[in-house]
Amino acid sequence: MRMVDLIEKKRDGFELTKQEIEYIVAGFTDESIPDYQMSAFTMAVFFVGMTDQERAHLTLAMVESGDQIQLSDIEGVKVDKHSTGGVGDTTTLVLAPLVAAVGVPVAKMSGRGLGHTGGTIDKLESIAGFHVEITTDEFVKLVNQNKLAVVGQSGNLTPADKKLYALRDVTATVNSIPLIASSIMSKKIAAGADAIVLDVKTGAGAFMEQLDDARELAKAMVQIGNNVGRNTMAVISDMSQPLGFAIGNALEVQEAIDTLKGKGPADLLELCLVLGSQMVVLARKASTLEEARGLLEDAIASGRALETFKVFVQSQGGDPSVADDYNKLPQAKFKIDLPAKRAGVVSAIEADEVGNAAMLLGAGRATKDSEIDLAVGLLLRKKIGDKVSEGESLLTIYSNSEDVEEVKYKLYNSIKISDTISDVPPLVYEIIQ
Ligand code: URA
Ligand code: CA
Repeated sequence: MRMVDLIEKKRDGFELTKQEIEYIVAGFTDESIPDYQMSAFTMAVFFVGMTDQERAHLTLAMVESGDQIQLSDIEGVKVDKHSTGGVGDTTTLVLAPLVAAVGVPVAKMSGRGLGHTGGTIDKLESIAGFHVEITTDEFVKLVNQNKLAVVGQSGNLTPADKKLYALRDVTATVNSIPLIASSIMSKKIAAGADAIVLDVKTGAGAFMEQLDDARELAKAMVQIGNNVGRNTMAVISDMSQPLGFAIGNALEVQEAIDTLKGKGPADLLELCLVLGSQMVVLARKASTLEEARGLLEDAIASGRALETFKVFVQSQGGDPSVADDYNKLPQAKFKIDLPAKRAGVVSAIEADEVGNAAMLLGAGRATKDSEIDLAVGLLLRKKIGDKVSEGESLLTIYSNSEDVEEVKYKLYNSIKISDTISDVPPLVYEIIQ
């Protein structure tokens, strides 16, 4: 096989075979295919697209380019959840113990990552003593015992995707549905998921700002999952404003615990019930979404979801009493309110800009090696559609520095107050299965 022929074949609109796609991915990974040929290929894909079969082959070839996590010693259907990323997205912290409480095994491998706040692991590390440095044996044992464990990313997962993503980033080919979909799905499959629930965000704070694009991406990922034998469902949810009230690591842990107690923000709870119902159905613990939702609501009402969280925290070295006393979480030195400059109705809370404000406070990582301040962040007092009077607090800034002028400036620019608003964005747009 020659790479030049395969580029030409794709350019001219023909379908590549499984062997051809495997040849490309293997060659790119071992560097026998140079970046310039791979760049030409990805640009051809960008314009021509890929068939459903090609997407499935590409996904599996990337899975096979590196290590794959074997979770076969864990009993039951392992369902993983993936969010395309949002601001103040506390869902994993709620969902993991919530679905575990109804018997769905949650074997979560998580990274730290870059972003407005830390990743799931950073957030959990706000709990004194909690750690994710556990062996694979310990991980498997804990999931079988408690239905839930979180381990830090290890091994060499999907090196082909890592290399390809970096190349796409500098060749204007990130924004291609088949490439994004296979990239995301390859990572989930390599991490051992039998079934996958996707939370595809749309709105100003999301990767896919437009609903049509989010729908296309969701359908592409569901199609790939089902074509490669991993049952997959997707939810398209709103990220035009942050989810819940809290944006920040310890603040989000507190918000998640509140939600497990049945006292959390309505939007966060609802999204967790929608996503959780899909996880429960895919794990075959219920046969309909309605039945699954009932089980989850009962797990919250009975206190079992909160108990599962406490056992999970304790099993990984953390102090479970934080759930009863939030003062045991890292505390910011200063709590500074942001008063509304006028009366009216909140008509926009631009999620990406609010996220950037949290980042300025130190809640997120700008580079791989930067330190996160777990205590800082933002706590919204208002959401889109809420009435506000002049001088009333829109949100509270949790900071370890007294000077928050730049943060305030950013926040005032991202929160709009109008006389009236026509409609509040829905939380869930569509369910794709
Ligand atoms: N996120 C990913 O993991 N891959 C992409 O290609 C785009 C977003
Ligand atoms: Ca939140």
